[in-house]
Amino acid sequence: MWDDLKSLAATRDGTRIDALFAQDAARAETFSVRHDGMLFDYSKTLIDADIRAALIAVAEGAGLAERRDAMFSGAKINETEGRAVLHTALRNLDGAPVEVDGADVMPEVLDTLSRMEALADEIRSSEITDVVNIGIGGSDLGPKMGYIALSPYADGPRCHFVSNVDGADIADTLKLCKPETTLFVIASKTFTTIETMTNAKSAWAWLEEKGVSTEGKFVALSSNKAAAGEWGIPEARVFGFEDWVGGRYSMWGPIGLSLMIGVGPANFRAFLKGGMEMDTHFRTAPLEQNMPVMLALVGMWHNQVLGQATRAVLPYDNRLSRLPAYLQQLEMESNGKGVSMDGANLACNSGPVVWGEPGTNGQHAFYQLIHQGTRVVPCEFMVAAQGHEPELAHHHSLLIANCLAQSEALMRGRDLDEARGKVAGKFGGDELERQARHRVFPGNRPSTTLVYPKLDPETLGRIVALYEHRVFVEGVILNINSFDQWGVELGKELATALGPMVTGEQAADGKDGSTRQLLAFVHKNAR
Ligand code: F6P
Repeated sequence: MWDDLKSLAATRDGTRIDALFAQDAARAETFSVRHDGMLFDYSKTLIDADIRAALIAVAEGAGLAERRDAMFSGAKINETEGRAVLHTALRNLDGAPVEVDGADVMPEVLDTLSRMEALADEIRSSEITDVVNIGIGGSDLGPKMGYIALSPYADGPRCHFVSNVDGADIADTLKLCKPETTLFVIASKTFTTIETMTNAKSAWAWLEEKGVSTEGKFVALSSNKAAAGEWGIPEARVFGFEDWVGGRYSMWGPIGLSLMIGVGPANFRAFLKGGMEMDTHFRTAPLEQNMPVMLALVGMWHNQVLGQATRAVLPYDNRLSRLPAYLQQLEMESNGKGVSMDGANLACNSGPVVWGEPGTNGQHAFYQLIHQGTRVVPCEFMVAAQGHEPELAHHHSLLIANCLAQSEALMRGRDLDEARGKVAGKFGGDELERQARHRVFPGNRPSTTLVYPKLDPETLGRIVALYEHRVFVEGVILNINSFDQWGVELGKELATALGPMVTGEQAADGKDGSTRQLLAFVHKNAR
């Protein structure tokens, strides 16, 4: 299927995106999707009607509609772990039944949500001033990203997020907190993750060392309720979820508790509502007008067809500063796989490298490469029509102007003639030519732009669900399992084995020369 698309792409060699606008006055509207107040504009790419039709045919041929319905219905589509994939049930606020193995999961989901809300209200009206979420990966990135994104709505205790096993993380955080008024939220699906359990123990030890009782100071969010109980957290303070919630898809349920405490249950519900609305759109909109589907297909056009291996996520929204990191886990842990569902090697590229920073900061750092580097980096811009600071509206106008200017500059570029004009008068002859060449922008570089009215809780929910479904669509078309993560196991096993070698309890026999040399250096310089 990619070969056909690659042949189609070859026939577009030499086509310029800006020329497509000149040929078709309605291009912007034709190559955009609108949903629930959001606009996804992919017209600044080489995609035309034939390419879009071919991409949609690929999605249909991959059985997208059937696979999507299978996911929502609770089928065990995570085949390598034998699990259903139902993070969508966590935001299914109307409670319509969703069955796993013949049992409706919704009563339990809604009951847990009510318990979370009761605890959040209790904490928000208590003397607790600081909440420290201890978790890593999906048990950190989502709530942390959301808490920063929704900071205008944060009217509860201050939330902190400790993830790294580097003691610097918890040490720096604890310096900001008072032991008497700090609540620790231990977030771990498995309740075995070494980083999280190590940080949790240090938090416990910190309270003891300060002479403050640990009673009532810990909450657990986990699928492994038994382990949380054994660890010393009373049942009433344990919020469970089932194995059908993947770690990187878990911020909608108990893993979102710190966010809920920070912004309040009503705002958290609005976030869930936004996600639920995106689910309905994903399930019902025709593929051409389906935002997650088109977001996925545009990405696959760039990565699988044109071989553009990375994509930059560039939110012109400072409060989405952690969105690129969140999406790195969501997209790369989900679709960074080389084996298809049937165990065969993937015949095409796996998901792309995802990276990014908020604009306008990125402009002063890495945009140079995006504009003039030798590799094409498809860019995904995002911006809100309104900010939260009406008194600083002129900042927001500048922000939007910069966002739109970047996608325009990437598309248009600057040719040699125009560049000569820029330096004429300053230089002449060969030097003018040389100087002008440095000022040429090739242009014809693709980008998409997502515009939304304002980064409120509901919109954040829509955006996160949009990206989740995009990952799903890409996974279906690649025929991979987007819901396991075997690639993280080997490093964990080796780290466990290396632990005693680092402390010197065990010799590094059998290790390669480089590892032995690194260990020897550490031993020599540890004191
Ligand atoms: O190492 C990868 C991973 O398993 C992620 O998928 C997950 O989000 C993270 O570790 C944390 O896992 P847990 O929530 O079980 O502590």
